[in-house]
Amino acid sequence: MQAVRALLHEIIGTLRDLSDGHQHAAEVLSILGRMDLSAANQHHWTPSEPVHACELQRAIGEMPQNLSRLADGLQIALPQLQWRVDRGVYYDVTEDIGNDYRTGNMHCELIGPNGSTFHHDDFTLGLFLLTPNILYRDHVHQAPEFYLTLMEPTGWRFGDRDWQDVPSGTVIWNAPETSHAIRVYDTPFLSIYSWTRDIHTKCRVVPRGDWREIETELSAN
Ligand SMILES: [Fe+2]
Repeated sequence: MQAVRALLHEIIGTLRDLSDGHQHAAEVLSILGRMDLSAANQHHWTPSEPVHACELQRAIGEMPQNLSRLADGLQIALPQLQWRVDRGVYYDVTEDIGNDYRTGNMHCELIGPNGSTFHHDDFTLGLFLLTPNILYRDHVHQAPEFYLTLMEPTGWRFGDRDWQDVPSGTVIWNAPETSHAIRVYDTPFLSIYSWTRDIHTKCRVVPRGDWREIETELSAN
């Protein structure tokens, strides 16, 4: 099987294995099950050197043993993947998303509406990376968002609740317009992500009073 499709196959297998009947993982898998993911339907795009290549290699190398097949699939597919940095696609320039996110994000969209390996008008799936020791500030969006974390640990804040650390293999579900933030520690954050519908509206930040303090603390590591 061609490497990018093989990677997608591993991602789907990982979702099946690790999400253990989780309602929203089932929803993602159901949409994937209705798609034609055959070679005949695959689009080929010019690969791009990942901006955060070192962090990506580190993430692949440090993925837990139970994700070794996915790590191998990603390593093999790497020369054929197209990675993008969000420089205003997801956030208007007026949004105070912060320098951490702007300089520390990267994603590889395998399914989606624009230049993805497989086309879907209103659904995305891919891999999302954040570099170490940064804060992805609190934000909301209309699209329901699914994550399966692949590294450990990362800190999450949902709404006004306290921060909590989650290990690899955790399903995160962010319902539409519900606030969430990510705190990345020494290990890069790598995840499988999906927006399951209503993907064409931008994200908005939700101001919090502790951003500077958290960012200073993280950057000191
Ligand atoms: Fe989000």
